[in-house]
Amino acid sequence: MKFVIYRSKATEEMRASDVGDILLTSRMNNQKRGITGALLYRNGFFLQVLEGQDDVVDDLVRRIRKDGRHTAFTVLYSGETSKLVFPSWSMARVPEDAVTRSPAVFQALESDQIDENTARQFLAEVSAVVR
Ligand SMILES: Cc1cc2nc3c(=O)[nH]c(=O)nc-3n(C[C@H](O)[C@H](O)[C@H](O)COP(=O)(O)O)c2cc1C
Repeated sequence: MKFVIYRSKATEEMRASDVGDILLTSRMNNQKRGITGALLYRNGFFLQVLEGQDDVVDDLVRRIRKDGRHTAFTVLYSGETSKLVFPSWSMARVPEDAVTRSPAVFQALESDQIDENTARQFLAEVSAVVR
């Protein structure tokens, strides 16, 4: 299994309902594919974690990357994992205030790449606040 953390920029201002639509579609699709993860939208930027079987994650990343609702798609970190961080979330929503509360989440949003330690810390901090 692998996980990918990426950041992208929304092409248009997202309303809460727009983000809600993305979450709904993601939850339906991801459940069928055994993908789990978390999504943050804040100030025009998306930050998403996807985890699951290598080929399924790679395929999903290719599809999401092409989505016209965002651009400047940048993988911040990608790695192998033997244990899912979000086993019960087909796509969790990360509350916006996670950015101000969590150094690792803030660092991920501000960087073009993060190291393994920051990635692991990011996952731990995000998994503690998703709902
Ligand atoms: C920021 C962002 C995150 C997304 N995350 C997912 C996801 O986790 N799973 C998914 O299936 N689609 C996700 N999508 C939507 C896909 O790009 C695509 O629209 C969708 O998979 C198409 O599904 P459909 O063929 O059922 O309409 C995301 C889109 C955006 C803009």
